[in-house]
Amino acid sequence: MMNALRQEVQKLLQDQNELINAKLQNLCDLLKNTLPHYTWVGFYFANAEKKTLHLGPYSGAPTDHTCIPFGKGICGQVAESNDYFLVPDVSAQDNYIACSLSVKSELVVPLFVAGKNIGQIDIDSDQLEAFNQEDVDFLQWVNAQIAMFWPQGYIPEEIHG
Ligand code: SME
Repeated sequence: MMNALRQEVQKLLQDQNELINAKLQNLCDLLKNTLPHYTWVGFYFANAEKKTLHLGPYSGAPTDHTCIPFGKGICGQVAESNDYFLVPDVSAQDNYIACSLSVKSELVVPLFVAGKNIGQIDIDSDQLEAFNQEDVDFLQWVNAQIAMFWPQGYIPEEIHG
């Protein structure tokens, strides 16, 4: 299952006719539509100077949280820790930003480009304890693939806002 999906991810990122933002949008749609426990899939990009995260391409319900300060919520903590954050039960977290009351668990994995934490992929699930090490490994692999196809020097337009 994951192997077939990994091939799809590579195919999509290799597409010479698409810009990186469109590729990331297609990636969000692919993951959300293929993996039933992925209820919301999106990217946040970091503005290192302002210490804020900015919503990029996503698939799922629109969210009010288009800008998140470093340190706030699961996403903001990952911006500072440089490590993934797997939350089996969001109701047990004090430092958590609720995007929707139906979300029960969350997994955020940092995106490193040229060794720099430039943002993250954020997955929400309506299921409790939806994610395991397989999801962590897969999403770290996905982000490594994105880094390989990242246009040199590209800064996502979202972070200028
Ligand atoms: N729950 C996240 C905020 C982003 S929304 O899930 C899309 C957090 O606590 O950082």
